[in-house]
Amino acid sequence: MIVLGIESSCDETGVAIYDTDKGLVTHTLYTQMALHAEYGGVVPELASRDHIRKLTPLIQQTLKQANLDQSNLNGIAYTAGPGLIGALLAGASVARSMAFALNIPAVGVHHMEGHLLAPMLEQQQPQFPFICLLVSGGHSMIIRVDGIGRYKLLGDTLDDAAGEAFDKTAKLLGLGYPGGPKVSNLALQGNPDRYKFPRPMIDRPGLDMSFSGLKTYTLNTWNQAKKDNDATEQTKADICRAFEMAVADTLRIKCKRALEQENLNRLVVSGGVSANREIRYQLDKLMQQRKGEAFYPRLEFCTDNGAMIAYAGAQRLLAGQSQDLNFATTPRWSL
Ligand code: KG4
Ligand code: ZN
Repeated sequence: MIVLGIESSCDETGVAIYDTDKGLVTHTLYTQMALHAEYGGVVPELASRDHIRKLTPLIQQTLKQANLDQSNLNGIAYTAGPGLIGALLAGASVARSMAFALNIPAVGVHHMEGHLLAPMLEQQQPQFPFICLLVSGGHSMIIRVDGIGRYKLLGDTLDDAAGEAFDKTAKLLGLGYPGGPKVSNLALQGNPDRYKFPRPMIDRPGLDMSFSGLKTYTLNTWNQAKKDNDATEQTKADICRAFEMAVADTLRIKCKRALEQENLNRLVVSGGVSANREIRYQLDKLMQQRKGEAFYPRLEFCTDNGAMIAYAGAQRLLAGQSQDLNFATTPRWSL
């Protein structure tokens, strides 16, 4: 079965072709980052318009790259939610219209299911069951995964998602958008011993997380540095380092707890924040100590992309699932 995947839930237009016999055939990505950068965050209306502009050419380019024609497609998968409603509708309309014209099934995929299955696109795939740490701009979740579609939410964020905390921290330090890579790059030059930020919620039982306090801690530390006439680039780097270490440490502690609670030793880490170097280092260390295994998507599939949607949709279609033409998008949708 050859499936076209379309991702358009936020600020990346992603298209991919997945062959259920041969694996990922090809993928293309157009990022709107430059478009939103001057506003310091994603502007929903601009995102929708840009998806509409880019989707059809990107689909044509992807088919060409794969040496395929529309008539070779057996199904279409698209992100149906959660995400920005206009952006989702752009992808859904193109996907459903194509499926209608080609008389093939279409399936709406949950964006987070796409992220959580992204490591399945790699050669070395995790076996079920595993614990998944899903950390993106909108979510921080710890999930027990027993199979495709068999997900049990073990922990969630009570306020800001991990990626959101990175983005807000970057904004308040004047580092620009998107924050994660900016904070992480500056942290490389930071002194790890200068500040010690709190590890939120680790003293409380359970697997829920909270990151908004860290952001406030960052703000207070930065304001104090300004008062002390010490608001330098080095101070910024030191704050980024302390912030990143606090997030990574908190995630490590929560993952350890989840693995112990569920008696599992396989950890999958996905979502945009899983691209983070310090987080990978901390989680690899944890899994080495436990003699377990850690799995990550390759860097380009950590953030939003069409390949993960094509994969998740292909699994759904293989299981005989597709939706009628009335089904379009679900901007708020629990996994
Ligand atoms: O998964 P994703 O592309 O989009 C959502 O579904 O939200 O994740 C985007 C998030 C942003 O908050 C971005 O700042 C963060 O992932 N991110 C990172 C890194 N790269 C992207 N956070 C920390 N370190 C990174 N290297
Ligand atoms: Zn995402």
